[in-house]
Amino acid sequence: MDTVEEIKSKIDIVEFLSEYIRLRQSGNSFRALCPFHKEKTPSFFVSPERGIWHCFGCNKTGDIFGFLMEMERIDFPEALRILAGKAGVVIEHYNQQAVSQKTKLLDICRWSAEFYHKVLWESPSAAPAREYLKNRGLDKKTINGFQMGFVPDKWDALLKFLTGRGFKEKDIEAAGMIIRSDKGGFYDRFRNRITFPIADAHDQIVGFTARILPGTKDEDKTPKYINTPDTPIYNKSRVLYGLNKAKAKAKEEDKIILVEGNMDVLACHQAGYENAVCTSGTALTQDQIKILQRYTQNIILGFDVDLAGQAATQRSIDLLLHQGLNVKVLKLGKGKDPDEFIRTDLNGWKKALKDPQPIMEYYFSLAFSARGGSALGEKDKELSIEEKKSVVKILLPIVSKLGDPVERDLWLKKLSGDLNVSEISLRDALRRIIQPRNPFLKSEQIIPEKVSGEQQAGERFLALVLKYPEKGEVLKNVVLDMFLTPRDQTVIRITKDYYFKNKNIDLTRIKKEINDKEVIGYLDFLIFLAEKEFESYKPAEIDKELNCLTNLLKKKYLNKKREKLLQELKEEETKGDRETIEKIMLKIIKLSQGIDSC
Ligand code: GTP
Ligand code: MN
Repeated sequence: MDTVEEIKSKIDIVEFLSEYIRLRQSGNSFRALCPFHKEKTPSFFVSPERGIWHCFGCNKTGDIFGFLMEMERIDFPEALRILAGKAGVVIEHYNQQAVSQKTKLLDICRWSAEFYHKVLWESPSAAPAREYLKNRGLDKKTINGFQMGFVPDKWDALLKFLTGRGFKEKDIEAAGMIIRSDKGGFYDRFRNRITFPIADAHDQIVGFTARILPGTKDEDKTPKYINTPDTPIYNKSRVLYGLNKAKAKAKEEDKIILVEGNMDVLACHQAGYENAVCTSGTALTQDQIKILQRYTQNIILGFDVDLAGQAATQRSIDLLLHQGLNVKVLKLGKGKDPDEFIRTDLNGWKKALKDPQPIMEYYFSLAFSARGGSALGEKDKELSIEEKKSVVKILLPIVSKLGDPVERDLWLKKLSGDLNVSEISLRDALRRIIQPRNPFLKSEQIIPEKVSGEQQAGERFLALVLKYPEKGEVLKNVVLDMFLTPRDQTVIRITKDYYFKNKNIDLTRIKKEINDKEVIGYLDFLIFLAEKEFESYKPAEIDKELNCLTNLLKKKYLNKKREKLLQELKEEETKGDRETIEKIMLKIIKLSQGIDSC
């Protein structure tokens, strides 16, 4: 068995894909909403038996390797490394070159984290850092669990350590850990800072964020936090701090707490809320939202949300709403971040988490209370016209950002009721706001591959026969030319041969007889098609469907033949050879009778 096959045999495809998507069993296969395109009904099928998946919406197909590559947008060597690690398979010979650069950078990050972590606990120079973390309420378990560290106030602490371990400066620079100086030398990027390693979802450390130690001399001259720049392994728009530790709980509880700061993530995890993540201070990106959606659709915001929010916060919320996630807001109290809240009022925090407010309700109450009216439907005081106008001005743009038209409708109705303003006029105003085109959906739209009805009939016929070999006798009623594509013809030829020799259909054996990779992939597609379409068919329904399809294929085939003869007839008529003409006409009549009897 080669390495790839060995890895495949050790990783259960359903279990593995379930780390990313919600699979539901249905017959022999599992189904899910496709993670690679937008859809409302599941057309993504997984066959545990065959270790492959297929999406009928976007026509993508593959195994665990293909899935991981597509999902994480990585190349094969990297997928191989990750899956080998998961399966506990040692890779002996693979494309060293392709992997080695990334592996080197990952190694550098891993060693850096270990170095910083060791310094934090063991170096006398780290005493103030240890004191600081203690004062911020972080315990040993959290510090170790997140492998927090400290880097002393030196220009080359890490540089020396890593070169001492044999790493080259150019690789350390490529990992973002050192910076080239004007004079041509190198110096540490992070100095005199508390370090937070950032891991990807597979627990590989890909970069760092580092906080200045308060009380140091140049504290106000440098940013509070600095981060690894983008590198071949670190892409800030695809990373969420804490996700590697949050994903299990996020799935289990079907929600994620999104906070603003690294310290908030740590405080949440330490208090037992392990489904907390943050974006390191930047606005959420589309990619990060997609990653969050692997685990849940429910996001609880743990930061200040108000009507005149910070641009980054507002953009994040807009994007979440637009993508149709369920967003709720924690009532934190003015100026408090989760870290502070948890430390000063754990019970208050627990209460807030038990009862987060749906963001739209939250916005409504903010808008109404800002205009003197009471929140949410308690219409004890009718607003003035001016007040109503300003509520509309605040809320309509928010409603317009909802990605789901049904939800947009519901909130519009509510606004109309709460303000006692007609829905029609609100809808009219809304239409003016909504951009005609939706920039986020553009790349997601899928143009279905055009397949003619005849070709579809061929595919369905083949799928049925492959799924129900006991109906193999119908193969007697079809000929190769009834199938349009060379691919279909190959499949029918080999299947027919096999069936009439063995009186059954063994897919694995049939696959062995086909050398063409594309055709083998097509067979996989046909089986998925059968599972999708015919799983629940009763024997009588199968017969009926097979009959229909055979007739349709036959009719089309005979029609084509007749057309050809008609063409021939035309040509002969100009030549005027009676005998030939009569022969052709006889054939045409026969064919026509055949067509009628279909
Ligand atoms: P503490 O101040 O230690 O409580 O940290 P915090 O996590 O609460 O920080 P804050 O709320 O001020 O900022 C939220 C997040 O924004 C931080 O965790 C950082 O990821 C990021 N951030 C804050 N300040 C800076 C900065 O100066 N530069 C950059 N690049 N990011 C920052
Ligand atoms: Mn803070």
